[in-house]
Amino acid sequence: MTEDSGDYGRLRDAVGKHMFRYTPAGFASYFVGRAKGTYIYDHNGRAILDFCSGQMCATLGHNHPVVTEAIEQSCRDVLHLFSGLLSPSVVNLAEELGALLPAQLQKMMFVSTGSESNEAALRMAKLRQGGFEVIGLSGSWHGVTMGANSSTYNGARAGYGPAAPGTMAIPGPNSYRCPIQHCRDKCDMTCLDVGFGMYDAQSVGAPAAVIAEPILSSAGIIVPPEGYFVKLKQKCEERGMLLILDEAQTGMGRTGTTFHFEQLGIVPDIMTLSKTLGAGLPMAAVISSDEIEADCFAKGFLFYTSHVSDPLPAAVGLAVLRVMKEENLTERAGTMGTYMMDSLRALQQRYECIGDVRGKGLLVGLEIVQDREGRKADRGLASRIQKECLEAGLVLHAVRQESQSAIRLAPPLNVSKDEMDTGIAIIDQAIRKALETA
Ligand SMILES: Cc1ncc(COP(=O)(O)O)c(C=O)c1O
Repeated sequence: MTEDSGDYGRLRDAVGKHMFRYTPAGFASYFVGRAKGTYIYDHNGRAILDFCSGQMCATLGHNHPVVTEAIEQSCRDVLHLFSGLLSPSVVNLAEELGALLPAQLQKMMFVSTGSESNEAALRMAKLRQGGFEVIGLSGSWHGVTMGANSSTYNGARAGYGPAAPGTMAIPGPNSYRCPIQHCRDKCDMTCLDVGFGMYDAQSVGAPAAVIAEPILSSAGIIVPPEGYFVKLKQKCEERGMLLILDEAQTGMGRTGTTFHFEQLGIVPDIMTLSKTLGAGLPMAAVISSDEIEADCFAKGFLFYTSHVSDPLPAAVGLAVLRVMKEENLTERAGTMGTYMMDSLRALQQRYECIGDVRGKGLLVGLEIVQDREGRKADRGLASRIQKECLEAGLVLHAVRQESQSAIRLAPPLNVSKDEMDTGIAIIDQAIRKALETA
């Protein structure tokens, strides 16, 4: 199909006629009917490097043969069952994930999406603690369903009516742009004390949980300072709140450990995994302790959905674990992440507009600013860089909030060194071109 061909025109017309526009940015102008490894292919057959792993999910690259084989095998075995029935793939996945997790995280349930997993985690926390107050971090993203969206403080809120009662935000730690305008470059966690002080003042005595991303990805890859989660967990315990860690983007190797909490010095009470667990297919897990699970069960915990414990995504989850092990992907994310970070820091030396390079493993953000000292976000420039990258054959995400403009890079964990070099060279050229058109 070429851009001039009737089929391209027909598809574009059909988009206009039939598709909901569910993102304010609208749809890309090209169609993708094929993807393989780190590349997607547009309707003209042009190869485009995907440094966002689809929607941050395809950590093994697109259409990994072990994943497609697991899907084919499921088509021969079983795809879907009554929710009270378990397939061997579901139980095997629970056992294999359990082997990677500490004793406090051995019980789990499998659902479809990140929003759904957070919904379930919040329901469990409320049931267990008997309260309904939930704290989230400013800038966070946990999904668009009611419970998850009520604790999402990154847009996507206005116009949909009241959030869940008891939901409150505390300032997310951001050493580049301190949310309480207190420190610069080194967060001393005053924001955490201030946030909990505000919670204590507003609480009606019904604590349930804190929900947090270990790295605030949609906020622009904000990495909390060392010791933050130890202090956060302590504050939860003092108040009778559970700590829910949402590892949608950080889980399954992306930051250089299988789960990011391993780098934080704590174990969450509940962990949710999604995106990366299915490596491109809808698959998510809610994981907690024997004690929390038993208490919730005794209190009648219900999460009866059409696709809970479906065999097909569980078989894919098993395939993901197998590939991660066989291809040593967790370690690779660490080494390739360092390589990517070093390459981007070298670009930062040359371009004043790169205010900050931050992240962990293969989850990295570039902050695009008007000037280094003032740190004023340059959203127009970030958009032009993104556009120039796409024209040169590289997909990146610009993640924007009011005061900032970051570009997110999260290539598949098996990205090759050549692909990485190609991607970095495209970014270099795109920045140069975008600056010229300023
Ligand atoms: C950290 C995090 N949690 C949850 C979600 C929601 O996941 P889903 O879109 O699969 O519902 C996202 C999606 O971007 C996310 O980044």
